[in-house]
Amino acid sequence: MCIRLEIKPSSKMSIFSPAIFGDLKAAAYNKQESGATVYDLSLGSPDLPPDDKVRQRLAELSGQANMYGYTLGGLPSFNEAVSNYYRRRSQVDLDPQTEVLQTMGSQEGLVHLPLAFCNEGDYVLTTNPAYVAYETGIKLAGAIPYEMPLRAENDFLPVLADVPADILERTKLLILNLPGNPVPAMPTMEYFQEVVRFAKKHHIMVLHDAAYSEYYFTGDRPISFLSVDGAKDVGIEINSLSKSFSLAGARIAYFAGNAKMIKIMRELKSNLDYGTFQPIQEAAIVALNNAEEITDRLRKTFSKRHKIIMEGMADLGWQATPSKGGMFVWAKYPYDLDDVDFVFQAIEQVGVVMVPGSIFGSEGAGFVRVALVQEEAILEGAIEQLKRLDIK
Ligand SMILES: Cc1ncc(COP(=O)(O)O)c(C=O)c1O
Repeated sequence: MCIRLEIKPSSKMSIFSPAIFGDLKAAAYNKQESGATVYDLSLGSPDLPPDDKVRQRLAELSGQANMYGYTLGGLPSFNEAVSNYYRRRSQVDLDPQTEVLQTMGSQEGLVHLPLAFCNEGDYVLTTNPAYVAYETGIKLAGAIPYEMPLRAENDFLPVLADVPADILERTKLLILNLPGNPVPAMPTMEYFQEVVRFAKKHHIMVLHDAAYSEYYFTGDRPISFLSVDGAKDVGIEINSLSKSFSLAGARIAYFAGNAKMIKIMRELKSNLDYGTFQPIQEAAIVALNNAEEITDRLRKTFSKRHKIIMEGMADLGWQATPSKGGMFVWAKYPYDLDDVDFVFQAIEQVGVVMVPGSIFGSEGAGFVRVALVQEEAILEGAIEQLKRLDIK
């Protein structure tokens, strides 16, 4: 007799959203197979190579036999490099031992953080639209997301005063992301000061995701949340080497800020992983120590790309959200068509791949996210192609 094992997902698997990126890739592949050129402006994975010095350090150390052990909580010298970078960039003092914690990419830290601080039924304030990993982490912890809408009339910043009192009473954590994904809104000193006051008044911890902190196109460098008086009393910032230093595949990032939160996260992480490959940590130190030079190059490239897409969108009659930073352009297209349908039509008709805004939350309906991760000629080509769209 043959007994079949019934294999089915746990109920928690329903937390994970359907993988639209796989469907976009399949549609783009079909288009390419038909002989057409595809302009992929979907994934936010940096296309620039990591700096030579960074790659050399990684290559050199990877060849050494003594580099392959567990690294547990990370190298103290990595924490020192983070601390020095914060002092140089943002005039923020961080104790490398107690106020910095390495993570295996920021996704890892973001998804696990609510588990460390939230009980079942606690609320976490997040935004709509938002980077999807926040909601995954909140739900895995059994907490409940409360989505604050991001709207043009508020410069795409969440309005904290609109959160109802009964929600605030049950809220543990507030997650912010400035410059943001998918909406490239920028942080201001006044806004972060308001966040600190709000957090203190309502006893809420703050997690600021600064993944795009080095992407800015004017002189206005996005400020660190930790540079605001009192921020360290209420929260932490997570930053990643994925975007600023093109090390997305190397998986290295860090939390910085409130020592109690860092201690609790360290305890959680000591049960989850054994640390990042040492040569990657050493290469990341080289990146952080040369941050100004490396990120300057990145900004020059991305500001040109940003200009091309913003001007192109104006030509097309699309409403692109004005922005001084970030890796994306967030745009409202002028057709009365669902954004998922629109995106698949754009791939099918003209080979341009964008991300439908609604995958980041209901407020994203009618918008698309355009990633600036292609060379200028490709971005110009994509705009020309979009002019040929024929939407009924
Ligand atoms: C806002 C934001 N935070 C975090 C991440 C995760 O980056 P990583 O895990 O590579 O550090 C991303 C990636 O796209 C992102 O857009």
